Amino acid sequence: MKKSKILIVANWKMNPDNYAEAEDLLHQSIGVVKNTKSARVVLCIPYPWLTDFSHKGSKIVSFGAQDAAIEEKGALTGEVSPTMLKNSGVEYVILGHSERRALGETDALVAQKVLLALKTGLKVILCVGEKERDLHGEYLLFLRNQLINSLGKIQKKYLKKLIVAYEPVWAIGKSEKEAMTPDDLHETSLFIKKVLVEVYGQDSGLIIPILYGGSVGAKNAPSLLALGQIQGLLVGHESLNPKKFGELLSSIGN
Ligand code: PGA
Repeated sequence: MKKSKILIVANWKMNPDNYAEAEDLLHQSIGVVKNTKSARVVLCIPYPWLTDFSHKGSKIVSFGAQDAAIEEKGALTGEVSPTMLKNSGVEYVILGHSERRALGETDALVAQKVLLALKTGLKVILCVGEKERDLHGEYLLFLRNQLINSLGKIQKKYLKKLIVAYEPVWAIGKSEKEAMTPDDLHETSLFIKKVLVEVYGQDSGLIIPILYGGSVGAKNAPSLLALGQIQGLLVGHESLNPKKFGELLSSIGN
């Protein structure tokens, strides 16, 4: 059976500041992705640069947004609908990122966005993750509730386009040393799979890919992938440095 590719999602967040730098980062990123055979790379870029790049398209990388609107139409100042994204050649969308949840997005709102984006035909990267870990394992209950509530009521036919990204908030934006250990990730990814099986049954629950995000770099990417029982990585700050991003991609094999 053909081995499916590792999914590497680069989250540029609110970077860079201008078009010329964004274009330069795009070209340099494509340059380092070009020789990668084992990974499929998605660049999630701020709106002002995203739609231009995605409209032109690329054979080397796919494009993703970092959020999408809750409604398809209506008076929603400042929002961008999933259809607008789809019609611009955008293939993926990150939803429920902890930095958006920190701005007030609830599980219910995230669930509504997830359903609409899936119905529109976008591939959804749904982010979940606890803020902190306690010794009694209460964070597992938090994670379970957040996952179930953010999934809402998705019909099984849409599950093929759903990806769950586990991003513990305490591990985001740190050094690789402070990221999650592969053993802890293994335990948590199994827990997430168990919840997905509980919700969607064995056959459907197990096809949903799980990514890990939170201070991933070339040093920890191979062990997180090998021991973590995950299908890919969500990479923040290291994706803004093409040299480091290239090293990360090489570290997981060509
Ligand atoms: P980080 O960000 O790699 O900078 O920790 C990951 C994310 O927030 O998606």
